[in-house]
Amino acid sequence: MKRLTGVLFVLVLLCSASQAQFSKQARDSINKITSVDYQNMLDQLGIKTIRQGANGNDPKAPNAANYDEAKANPFPDLPDPLGMKNGKSVTSAKTWWKKRRPEIVEDFDREIYGRMPQNTPKVKWEVTEIKNDTVGKYKVIAKTMVGHVDNSGYPSVNVDIRMTLTTPAEAKEPVPVIMEFGFIFPPGFRMPAMPNASKEPTWQQQLLEKGWGFAIILPNSIQADNGAGLTQGIIGLMNKGKYRKPDDWGSLRAWAWGASRALDYFETDKAVNARQVGIEGHSRYGKATLVTMAYDSRFAIAFVSSSGEGGAKLHRRNAGELVENVASSGEYHWMAGNFIKYAGPLTPKDMPVDSHELIAMCAPRPVFISSGEKGDGWVDAKGMFMAAVAAGPVYKLLGKKDLGTTIFPHVETPLMDGDLTFRQHSSGHTPAPNWPIFIRFAEKYFK
Ligand code: GCU
Repeated sequence: MKRLTGVLFVLVLLCSASQAQFSKQARDSINKITSVDYQNMLDQLGIKTIRQGANGNDPKAPNAANYDEAKANPFPDLPDPLGMKNGKSVTSAKTWWKKRRPEIVEDFDREIYGRMPQNTPKVKWEVTEIKNDTVGKYKVIAKTMVGHVDNSGYPSVNVDIRMTLTTPAEAKEPVPVIMEFGFIFPPGFRMPAMPNASKEPTWQQQLLEKGWGFAIILPNSIQADNGAGLTQGIIGLMNKGKYRKPDDWGSLRAWAWGASRALDYFETDKAVNARQVGIEGHSRYGKATLVTMAYDSRFAIAFVSSSGEGGAKLHRRNAGELVENVASSGEYHWMAGNFIKYAGPLTPKDMPVDSHELIAMCAPRPVFISSGEKGDGWVDAKGMFMAAVAAGPVYKLLGKKDLGTTIFPHVETPLMDGDLTFRQHSSGHTPAPNWPIFIRFAEKYFK
Protein backbone atom coordinates (compact mmCIF):
# COMPACT_ATOMS: atom_id res chain seq x y z
CA MET A 1 0.00 0.00 0.00
CA LYS A 2 2.79 2.31 1.07
CA ARG A 3 4.64 1.49 -2.15
CA LEU A 4 1.55 2.15 -4.27
CA THR A 5 1.10 5.54 -2.62
CA GLY A 6 4.77 6.23 -3.31
CA VAL A 7 4.38 5.33 -6.97
CA LEU A 8 1.28 7.45 -7.27
CA PHE A 9 3.11 10.32 -5.65
CA VAL A 10 5.99 10.05 -8.14
CA LEU A 11 3.49 9.82 -11.01
CA VAL A 12 1.72 12.93 -9.84
CA LEU A 13 5.06 14.70 -9.54
CA LEU A 14 6.07 13.61 -13.02
CA CYS A 15 2.76 14.69 -14.51
CA SER A 16 2.81 18.09 -12.86
CA ALA A 17 6.48 18.56 -13.78
CA SER A 18 5.78 17.83 -17.43
CA GLN A 19 2.72 20.04 -17.29
CA ALA A 20 4.78 22.87 -15.82
CA GLN A 21 7.44 22.22 -18.45
CA PHE A 22 4.80 22.24 -21.16
CA SER A 23 3.28 25.47 -19.87
CA LYS A 24 6.67 27.15 -19.70
CA GLN A 25 7.42 26.10 -23.26
CA ALA A 26 3.98 27.18 -24.38
CA ARG A 27 4.39 30.51 -22.60
CA ASP A 28 7.83 31.11 -24.14
CA SER A 29 6.54 30.41 -27.61
CA ILE A 30 3.48 32.66 -27.08
CA ASN A 31 5.79 35.45 -25.91
CA LYS A 32 8.04 35.00 -28.92
CA ILE A 33 5.20 35.13 -31.44
CA THR A 34 3.65 38.05 -29.54
CA SER A 35 6.82 40.11 -29.75
CA VAL A 36 7.00 39.58 -33.53
CA ASP A 37 3.36 40.66 -33.90
CA TYR A 38 3.92 43.64 -31.61
CA GLN A 39 6.99 44.74 -33.54
CA ASN A 40 5.06 44.42 -36.78
CA MET A 41 2.41 46.80 -35.41
CA LEU A 42 5.05 49.27 -34.16
CA ASP A 43 6.63 49.20 -37.65
CA GLN A 44 3.27 49.84 -39.31
CA LEU A 45 2.80 52.81 -36.98
CA GLY A 46 6.37 54.04 -37.46
CA ILE A 47 6.94 53.94 -33.70
CA LYS A 48 10.44 53.30 -32.35
CA THR A 49 9.75 53.31 -28.61
CA ILE A 50 6.87 53.92 -26.27
CA ARG A 51 6.91 55.43 -22.80
CA GLN A 52 7.23 53.02 -19.91
CA GLY A 53 4.07 52.06 -18.04
CA ALA A 54 3.48 52.45 -14.32
CA ASN A 55 4.94 49.90 -11.93
CA GLY A 56 2.14 48.51 -9.79
CA ASN A 57 4.32 46.22 -7.70
CA ASP A 58 7.08 48.40 -6.28
CA PRO A 59 6.06 51.72 -4.69
CA LYS A 60 9.77 52.72 -4.58
CA ALA A 61 10.33 52.24 -8.31
CA PRO A 62 11.03 55.46 -10.25
CA ASN A 63 7.94 54.71 -12.35
CA ALA A 64 5.80 53.56 -9.41
CA ALA A 65 2.07 53.86 -10.06
CA ASN A 66 0.70 57.16 -8.79
CA TYR A 67 -1.99 57.13 -6.10
CA ASP A 68 -1.70 60.79 -5.13
CA GLU A 69 -4.89 62.57 -6.21
CA ALA A 70 -2.98 65.86 -6.48
CA LYS A 71 -1.00 64.40 -9.40
CA ALA A 72 -3.78 62.33 -10.92
CA ASN A 73 -5.21 64.78 -13.42
CA PRO A 74 -2.46 66.02 -15.74
CA PHE A 75 -5.04 66.49 -18.54
CA PRO A 76 -8.17 67.71 -16.78
CA ASP A 77 -10.09 68.75 -19.91
CA LEU A 78 -12.24 66.01 -21.36
CA PRO A 79 -13.74 65.94 -24.85
CA ASP A 80 -17.36 67.11 -24.66
CA PRO A 81 -19.67 64.17 -25.42
CA LEU A 82 -22.30 66.66 -26.56
CA GLY A 83 -19.88 68.80 -28.59
CA MET A 84 -20.00 68.07 -32.31
CA LYS A 85 -16.84 68.04 -34.44
CA ASN A 86 -18.24 71.07 -36.27
CA GLY A 87 -18.23 73.06 -33.02
CA LYS A 88 -22.01 72.96 -32.45
CA SER A 89 -23.61 71.60 -29.30
CA VAL A 90 -26.02 68.70 -29.31
CA THR A 91 -29.35 69.72 -27.80
CA SER A 92 -31.69 67.02 -29.07
CA ALA A 93 -31.83 63.24 -28.80
CA LYS A 94 -32.19 63.10 -32.56
CA THR A 95 -28.85 64.87 -33.16
CA TRP A 96 -27.21 62.61 -30.57
CA TRP A 97 -28.34 59.44 -32.35
CA LYS A 98 -27.95 60.68 -35.93
CA LYS A 99 -24.80 62.81 -35.74
CA ARG A 100 -22.85 62.92 -32.49
CA ARG A 101 -22.95 59.26 -31.40
CA PRO A 102 -21.69 58.07 -34.82
CA GLU A 103 -18.77 60.53 -34.52
CA ILE A 104 -17.85 59.04 -31.14
CA VAL A 105 -18.24 55.48 -32.43
CA GLU A 106 -15.94 56.24 -35.37
CA ASP A 107 -13.24 57.60 -33.02
CA PHE A 108 -13.44 54.55 -30.74
CA ASP A 109 -13.37 52.25 -33.77
CA ARG A 110 -10.37 53.86 -35.40
CA GLU A 111 -8.23 54.81 -32.40
CA ILE A 112 -9.17 52.75 -29.35
CA TYR A 113 -10.81 49.34 -29.83
CA GLY A 114 -10.51 48.86 -33.59
CA ARG A 115 -13.06 48.26 -36.31
CA MET A 116 -15.14 45.12 -36.35
CA PRO A 117 -15.30 43.86 -39.96
CA GLN A 118 -18.73 44.31 -41.56
CA ASN A 119 -19.13 40.80 -42.90
CA THR A 120 -18.46 38.69 -39.81
CA PRO A 121 -19.53 35.09 -40.40
CA LYS A 122 -22.65 33.34 -39.18
CA VAL A 123 -22.50 31.32 -35.99
CA LYS A 124 -24.40 28.05 -35.71
CA TRP A 125 -25.25 27.20 -32.12
CA GLU A 126 -25.29 23.57 -31.15
CA VAL A 127 -26.60 22.56 -27.73
CA THR A 128 -24.30 19.68 -26.80
CA GLU A 129 -25.84 18.83 -23.43
CA ILE A 130 -29.04 19.54 -21.50
CA LYS A 131 -29.02 18.50 -17.87
CA ASN A 132 -31.49 18.70 -14.99
CA ASP A 133 -29.24 19.81 -12.20
CA THR A 134 -29.11 21.69 -8.92
CA VAL A 135 -27.16 24.81 -7.98
CA GLY A 136 -27.24 25.06 -4.19
CA LYS A 137 -30.91 24.52 -3.33
CA TYR A 138 -32.16 25.56 -6.76
CA LYS A 139 -33.34 23.17 -9.44
CA VAL A 140 -32.03 24.23 -12.82
CA ILE A 141 -31.78 23.28 -16.45
CA ALA A 142 -28.15 23.56 -17.49
CA LYS A 143 -27.31 23.71 -21.16
CA THR A 144 -23.83 23.46 -22.61
CA MET A 145 -23.39 24.77 -26.11
CA VAL A 146 -20.92 25.49 -28.83
CA GLY A 147 -21.21 28.27 -31.39
CA HIS A 148 -19.58 27.02 -34.57
CA VAL A 149 -18.32 30.02 -36.51
CA ASP A 150 -18.60 29.58 -40.29
CA ASN A 151 -14.97 29.41 -41.40
CA SER A 152 -15.54 28.64 -45.07
CA GLY A 153 -13.79 31.96 -45.84
CA TYR A 154 -10.56 30.67 -44.27
CA PRO A 155 -10.80 27.01 -43.22
CA SER A 156 -7.39 26.87 -41.53
CA VAL A 157 -8.73 28.92 -38.62
CA ASN A 158 -11.45 27.22 -36.60
CA VAL A 159 -13.51 29.11 -33.99
CA ASP A 160 -15.95 27.34 -31.65
CA ILE A 161 -17.48 29.63 -29.04
CA ARG A 162 -18.06 27.88 -25.71
CA MET A 163 -20.94 28.82 -23.45
CA THR A 164 -23.22 27.46 -20.76
CA LEU A 165 -26.74 28.65 -19.96
CA THR A 166 -28.48 27.82 -16.68
CA THR A 167 -32.11 28.70 -16.01
CA PRO A 168 -34.51 27.87 -13.15
CA ALA A 169 -36.16 24.50 -13.85
CA GLU A 170 -39.54 25.60 -12.57
CA ALA A 171 -39.78 28.90 -14.47
CA LYS A 172 -43.22 29.40 -16.02
CA GLU A 173 -42.07 32.02 -18.48
CA PRO A 174 -38.86 33.25 -20.15
CA VAL A 175 -36.48 34.63 -17.52
CA PRO A 176 -33.91 37.45 -17.41
CA VAL A 177 -30.36 36.17 -17.84
CA ILE A 178 -27.06 37.72 -16.79
CA MET A 179 -24.13 36.56 -18.88
CA GLU A 180 -20.62 36.58 -17.46
CA PHE A 181 -17.36 36.64 -19.38
CA GLY A 182 -15.80 33.68 -17.58
CA PHE A 183 -12.17 33.31 -16.63
CA ILE A 184 -10.69 29.93 -17.53
CA PHE A 185 -7.70 28.74 -15.64
CA PRO A 186 -4.93 26.47 -16.91
CA PRO A 187 -5.41 22.73 -16.31
CA GLY A 188 -4.48 21.78 -12.78
CA PHE A 189 -4.90 25.32 -11.45
CA ARG A 190 -6.39 25.37 -7.96
CA MET A 191 -8.36 28.39 -6.87
CA PRO A 192 -6.96 29.91 -3.66
CA ALA A 193 -9.22 29.26 -0.68
CA MET A 194 -11.44 32.27 0.01
CA PRO A 195 -12.15 32.97 3.68
CA ASN A 196 -15.87 32.53 4.41
CA ALA A 197 -16.57 32.12 0.72
CA SER A 198 -18.84 29.15 1.36
CA LYS A 199 -21.17 31.10 3.69
CA GLU A 200 -22.32 33.59 1.09
CA PRO A 201 -24.56 32.48 -1.74
CA THR A 202 -22.64 32.53 -5.01
CA TRP A 203 -23.59 35.07 -7.68
CA GLN A 204 -25.29 32.26 -9.56
CA GLN A 205 -27.39 31.38 -6.49
CA GLN A 206 -28.26 35.04 -5.96
CA LEU A 207 -29.58 35.27 -9.52
CA LEU A 208 -31.53 32.00 -9.19
CA GLU A 209 -33.04 33.30 -5.92
CA LYS A 210 -34.62 36.08 -8.03
CA GLY A 211 -35.88 33.52 -10.52
CA TRP A 212 -33.32 34.64 -13.09
CA GLY A 213 -30.81 32.62 -15.07
CA PHE A 214 -27.13 32.97 -15.82
CA ALA A 215 -24.79 32.21 -18.68
CA ILE A 216 -21.02 31.96 -18.84
CA ILE A 217 -19.23 32.58 -22.11
CA LEU A 218 -15.54 31.78 -22.53
CA PRO A 219 -13.76 34.73 -24.18
CA ASN A 220 -10.69 32.67 -25.06
CA SER A 221 -12.82 30.46 -27.29
CA ILE A 222 -13.62 33.59 -29.35
CA GLN A 223 -10.21 35.23 -29.35
CA ALA A 224 -6.99 34.43 -27.50
CA ASP A 225 -5.88 36.69 -24.69
CA ASN A 226 -2.46 37.44 -26.17
CA GLY A 227 -0.83 39.05 -29.19
CA ALA A 228 0.32 35.71 -30.54
CA GLY A 229 -3.31 34.74 -31.11
CA LEU A 230 -4.18 37.73 -33.29
CA THR A 231 -3.67 35.71 -36.47
CA GLN A 232 -6.08 33.10 -35.04
CA GLY A 233 -9.52 33.30 -33.45
CA ILE A 234 -12.24 35.42 -35.01
CA ILE A 235 -9.72 38.21 -35.75
CA GLY A 236 -7.39 35.81 -37.58
CA LEU A 237 -10.31 34.18 -39.37
CA MET A 238 -11.45 37.55 -40.74
CA ASN A 239 -7.87 38.55 -41.64
CA LYS A 240 -7.16 35.15 -43.21
CA GLY A 241 -4.22 34.67 -40.84
CA LYS A 242 -2.55 37.99 -41.72
CA TYR A 243 -1.34 40.67 -39.30
CA ARG A 244 -3.77 43.34 -38.14
CA LYS A 245 -3.86 46.80 -39.66
CA PRO A 246 -3.66 49.67 -37.12
CA ASP A 247 -7.43 50.19 -37.08
CA ASP A 248 -8.40 46.50 -37.00
CA TRP A 249 -10.25 45.22 -33.96
CA GLY A 250 -8.53 43.87 -30.87
CA SER A 251 -9.56 41.15 -28.43
CA LEU A 252 -11.99 43.33 -26.41
CA ARG A 253 -14.06 44.08 -29.48
CA ALA A 254 -13.80 40.45 -30.58
CA TRP A 255 -15.01 39.20 -27.19
CA ALA A 256 -17.88 41.69 -27.43
CA TRP A 257 -18.73 40.31 -30.89
CA GLY A 258 -18.89 36.81 -29.38
CA ALA A 259 -21.19 38.05 -26.61
CA SER A 260 -23.49 39.47 -29.27
CA ARG A 261 -23.59 36.10 -31.02
CA ALA A 262 -24.55 34.53 -27.68
CA LEU A 263 -27.41 37.03 -27.48
CA ASP A 264 -28.48 35.94 -30.99
CA TYR A 265 -28.79 32.46 -29.51
CA PHE A 266 -30.78 33.68 -26.48
CA GLU A 267 -33.26 35.24 -28.91
CA THR A 268 -34.04 31.71 -30.12
CA ASP A 269 -34.22 29.99 -26.71
CA LYS A 270 -37.67 30.05 -25.11
CA ALA A 271 -36.22 29.79 -21.60
CA VAL A 272 -34.69 33.27 -21.98
CA ASN A 273 -36.31 36.69 -22.04
CA ALA A 274 -33.91 38.11 -24.62
CA ARG A 275 -35.05 41.65 -23.87
CA GLN A 276 -33.72 41.25 -20.34
CA VAL A 277 -30.21 39.98 -20.88
CA GLY A 278 -27.43 41.65 -18.92
CA ILE A 279 -23.68 41.38 -19.30
CA GLU A 280 -21.10 41.20 -16.51
CA GLY A 281 -17.34 40.90 -16.37
CA HIS A 282 -14.42 41.63 -14.09
CA SER A 283 -11.05 43.25 -14.76
CA ARG A 284 -10.10 42.65 -18.43
CA TYR A 285 -13.60 41.24 -18.84
CA GLY A 286 -14.95 44.35 -17.14
CA LYS A 287 -13.45 46.24 -20.07
CA ALA A 288 -15.05 43.73 -22.47
CA THR A 289 -18.38 44.16 -20.67
CA LEU A 290 -18.41 47.91 -21.20
CA VAL A 291 -17.41 47.51 -24.86
CA THR A 292 -20.17 44.91 -25.35
CA MET A 293 -22.79 47.17 -23.79
CA ALA A 294 -21.62 50.21 -25.77
CA TYR A 295 -21.74 48.48 -29.14
CA ASP A 296 -24.82 46.23 -28.88
CA SER A 297 -27.98 48.05 -27.81
CA ARG A 298 -29.84 44.76 -27.28
CA PHE A 299 -28.04 44.23 -23.95
CA ALA A 300 -30.38 45.55 -21.27
CA ILE A 301 -27.95 46.23 -18.42
CA ALA A 302 -24.23 45.99 -17.60
CA PHE A 303 -22.25 45.18 -14.43
CA VAL A 304 -18.79 46.54 -15.16
CA SER A 305 -16.43 45.33 -12.44
CA SER A 306 -12.93 46.77 -11.84
CA SER A 307 -12.50 47.53 -15.54
CA GLY A 308 -9.74 50.14 -15.08
CA GLU A 309 -7.58 51.35 -17.95
CA GLY A 310 -9.06 50.38 -21.31
CA GLY A 311 -12.43 50.13 -19.52
CA ALA A 312 -14.34 52.80 -17.60
CA LYS A 313 -11.31 54.66 -16.24
CA LEU A 314 -10.43 57.94 -17.97
CA HIS A 315 -7.36 57.47 -20.19
CA ARG A 316 -6.34 61.01 -19.27
CA ARG A 317 -5.85 60.09 -15.58
CA ASN A 318 -2.50 59.41 -14.00
CA ALA A 319 -3.52 56.89 -11.33
CA GLY A 320 -2.85 53.18 -11.16
CA GLU A 321 -2.58 51.56 -14.56
CA LEU A 322 -1.85 53.84 -17.51
CA VAL A 323 -2.36 53.93 -21.28
CA GLU A 324 1.36 53.03 -21.48
CA ASN A 325 0.73 49.72 -19.67
CA VAL A 326 -2.10 48.68 -21.96
CA ALA A 327 -0.08 49.77 -25.01
CA SER A 328 2.73 47.39 -24.03
CA SER A 329 3.29 43.96 -25.56
CA GLY A 330 1.42 42.18 -22.77
CA GLU A 331 -1.90 44.00 -23.27
CA TYR A 332 -1.95 45.81 -26.66
CA HIS A 333 -3.88 42.94 -28.22
CA TRP A 334 -6.98 44.07 -26.29
CA MET A 335 -7.02 47.29 -28.32
CA ALA A 336 -6.62 48.63 -31.86
CA GLY A 337 -2.99 48.99 -32.95
CA ASN A 338 -3.59 52.74 -33.21
CA PHE A 339 -4.03 52.86 -29.42
CA ILE A 340 -0.27 52.36 -29.02
CA LYS A 341 0.38 55.82 -30.53
CA TYR A 342 -0.93 57.48 -27.36
CA ALA A 343 1.89 55.92 -25.34
CA GLY A 344 4.38 57.70 -27.62
CA PRO A 345 4.73 59.83 -29.67
CA LEU A 346 1.25 61.12 -28.69
CA THR A 347 -0.20 61.40 -25.17
CA PRO A 348 -3.64 60.58 -23.76
CA LYS A 349 -4.50 64.27 -24.17
CA ASP A 350 -4.42 63.73 -27.94
CA MET A 351 -7.14 61.08 -27.87
CA PRO A 352 -10.24 62.28 -29.71
CA VAL A 353 -12.42 60.51 -27.14
CA ASP A 354 -12.20 59.32 -23.56
CA SER A 355 -13.94 56.61 -21.56
CA HIS A 356 -16.85 58.79 -20.40
CA GLU A 357 -17.95 58.69 -24.05
CA LEU A 358 -17.81 54.88 -24.08
CA ILE A 359 -20.19 54.94 -21.10
CA ALA A 360 -22.28 57.54 -22.95
CA MET A 361 -22.55 55.12 -25.89
CA CYS A 362 -24.50 52.82 -23.54
CA ALA A 363 -27.10 55.50 -22.80
CA PRO A 364 -30.00 55.38 -22.07
CA ARG A 365 -29.49 51.80 -20.78
CA PRO A 366 -28.49 51.18 -17.14
CA VAL A 367 -24.83 50.68 -16.30
CA PHE A 368 -23.23 49.81 -12.95
CA ILE A 369 -19.60 50.94 -12.66
CA SER A 370 -17.85 49.29 -9.74
CA SER A 371 -14.62 48.28 -8.07
CA GLY A 372 -13.04 47.25 -4.81
CA GLU A 373 -10.83 49.29 -2.54
CA LYS A 374 -7.94 47.61 -0.74
CA GLY A 375 -5.64 46.13 -3.32
CA ASP A 376 -7.75 47.43 -6.18
CA GLY A 377 -6.06 50.84 -6.57
CA TRP A 378 -4.63 49.79 -9.94
CA VAL A 379 -8.07 50.17 -11.56
CA ASP A 380 -8.47 53.78 -10.32
CA ALA A 381 -11.98 53.85 -8.86
CA LYS A 382 -11.94 57.66 -8.85
CA GLY A 383 -11.08 57.80 -12.56
CA MET A 384 -13.98 55.45 -13.33
CA PHE A 385 -16.33 57.50 -11.17
CA MET A 386 -15.24 60.68 -13.00
CA ALA A 387 -15.97 59.01 -16.34
CA ALA A 388 -19.44 58.02 -15.13
CA VAL A 389 -20.06 61.61 -13.99
CA ALA A 390 -18.94 62.98 -17.36
CA ALA A 391 -21.26 60.56 -19.21
CA GLY A 392 -24.18 62.02 -17.24
CA PRO A 393 -25.18 64.80 -19.67
CA VAL A 394 -25.90 62.21 -22.37
CA TYR A 395 -28.13 60.18 -20.03
CA LYS A 396 -29.97 63.38 -19.11
CA LEU A 397 -30.37 64.41 -22.73
CA LEU A 398 -32.03 61.03 -23.35
CA GLY A 399 -34.41 61.55 -20.43
CA LYS A 400 -32.54 59.40 -17.91
CA LYS A 401 -30.90 60.06 -14.55
CA ASP A 402 -27.17 60.53 -14.12
CA LEU A 403 -25.21 59.64 -10.96
CA GLY A 404 -26.77 62.60 -9.20
CA THR A 405 -23.51 63.91 -7.74
CA THR A 406 -20.00 64.91 -8.68
CA ILE A 407 -18.65 64.07 -5.22
CA PHE A 408 -16.77 60.79 -4.96
CA PRO A 409 -18.76 58.64 -2.53
CA HIS A 410 -17.35 56.86 0.52
CA VAL A 411 -16.43 53.21 0.14
CA GLU A 412 -19.47 50.89 0.42
CA THR A 413 -21.82 53.77 -0.38
CA PRO A 414 -23.68 52.94 -3.58
CA LEU A 415 -25.13 55.71 -5.71
CA MET A 416 -28.38 54.00 -6.62
CA ASP A 417 -30.83 56.70 -7.68
CA GLY A 418 -29.92 57.02 -11.33
CA ASP A 419 -29.61 54.92 -14.46
CA LEU A 420 -25.87 55.13 -13.94
CA THR A 421 -24.77 53.53 -10.69
CA PHE A 422 -21.43 53.47 -8.91
CA ARG A 423 -20.11 51.56 -5.91
CA GLN A 424 -16.72 50.76 -4.50
CA HIS A 425 -16.77 47.85 -2.06
CA SER A 426 -14.15 47.60 0.68
CA SER A 427 -12.53 44.31 -0.40
CA GLY A 428 -9.98 43.71 -3.12
CA HIS A 429 -9.94 42.91 -6.83
CA THR A 430 -13.19 40.94 -7.02
CA PRO A 431 -16.75 41.56 -8.19
CA ALA A 432 -18.26 39.36 -5.42
CA PRO A 433 -19.30 41.99 -2.83
CA ASN A 434 -21.00 44.09 -5.52
CA TRP A 435 -23.30 41.35 -6.81
CA PRO A 436 -26.16 42.05 -4.34
CA ILE A 437 -25.99 45.75 -5.24
CA PHE A 438 -26.05 45.00 -8.95
CA ILE A 439 -29.04 42.70 -8.51
CA ARG A 440 -30.88 45.41 -6.56
CA PHE A 441 -30.11 47.82 -9.41
CA ALA A 442 -31.25 45.35 -12.07
CA GLU A 443 -34.52 44.68 -10.22
CA LYS A 444 -35.59 48.24 -10.99
CA TYR A 445 -35.58 47.30 -14.68
CA PHE A 446 -36.43 43.57 -14.68
CA LYS A 447 -39.83 43.70 -13.03
C1 GCU B 1 -3.73 43.41 -15.25
C2 GCU B 1 -3.99 44.55 -16.19
C3 GCU B 1 -5.40 45.08 -16.05
C4 GCU B 1 -6.40 43.95 -16.15
C5 GCU B 1 -6.03 42.86 -15.19
C6 GCU B 1 -6.88 41.61 -15.33
O1 GCU B 1 -3.71 43.88 -13.94
O2 GCU B 1 -3.05 45.56 -15.94
O3 GCU B 1 -5.67 46.01 -17.07
O4 GCU B 1 -7.68 44.42 -15.91
O5 GCU B 1 -4.71 42.44 -15.42
O6 GCU B 1 -7.70 41.50 -16.20
O7 GCU B 1 -6.67 40.70 -14.56
